[in-house]
Amino acid sequence: MSGMRTVFIVGLLCVFAGIPGAAYTAESVLAPARSHARPDERNVASAAESTLAPDIGLPAPHTNGKISVEQALKERRSVRNPLPTPLTIEEVGQLCWAAQGVTDVHGHRTAPSAQAKYPLELYVLAGSVTGLAPGLYHYLPSSHALHLVSGGDLRATFVDRGVGQGWVATAPVIFVLSGVPEKMASMGERGRPFMWVEVGLAAQGFLLQATSMGLGSIFVGGIRPAPAAMVLGLPPKEEVLAVLPVGHKP
Ligand SMILES: Cc1cc2nc3c(=O)[nH]c(=O)nc-3n(C[C@H](O)[C@H](O)[C@H](O)COP(=O)(O)O)c2cc1C
Repeated sequence: MSGMRTVFIVGLLCVFAGIPGAAYTAESVLAPARSHARPDERNVASAAESTLAPDIGLPAPHTNGKISVEQALKERRSVRNPLPTPLTIEEVGQLCWAAQGVTDVHGHRTAPSAQAKYPLELYVLAGSVTGLAPGLYHYLPSSHALHLVSGGDLRATFVDRGVGQGWVATAPVIFVLSGVPEKMASMGERGRPFMWVEVGLAAQGFLLQATSMGLGSIFVGGIRPAPAAMVLGLPPKEEVLAVLPVGHKP
């Protein structure tokens, strides 16, 4: 990680210094260190780094919530100041499933996808989670598991550089939805807008799930996509689309 941080800091300094192409250079230097974490039939994992740690199986998701869909729709509200109280790994798993979980033997997910291309990726920046060490994790839909990308609490760095809305860092867990537009290439010019539609669909499922669990969350779209992707170590083909901080409501 220290090498990656050095590259990142150099890249950021170059960006601030206005050196043309510097950000691209930093991305390029990062690229060779990346390896695909764990490809599966639908979801080519694209996390920055592969760790040797075994994937962390998540508890099976529940399909019987405490409130109706209608009640969740009524109660959902953006929450910007969640309590720092830890979430549990069960809650993290349930939220991952709500956004991108696999729901049948064909690999279809909780959120629809144009031509079932599934261009979205989901990351978890865990800060305070009972049963899960602080770190950056990549959600693996087909195995309902988390792949550790890098250990340590990245929330403050990610929010400082990639979001710029400081309150986001107070959430015990921050979820990030990214997308790979090239997966939509067969749809021509409609591919990229479709990817954005899909992030909205996935996020709405996530927000309703959080509401149903008594948690508070919010869709944060006002981000700095390039630095955000760099902090997460995403490959150049993958873009950060939305940030979803979650915590208990005050
Ligand atoms: C595409 C999109 C981007 C948003 N970006 C931000 C953001 O960057 N920061 C923020 O505080 N809220 C953001 N929001 C949340 C809206 O401010 C919020 O949904 C709106 O005020 C309505 O309130 P409600 O969600 O409680 O119904 C965003 C919402 C959407 C749909």
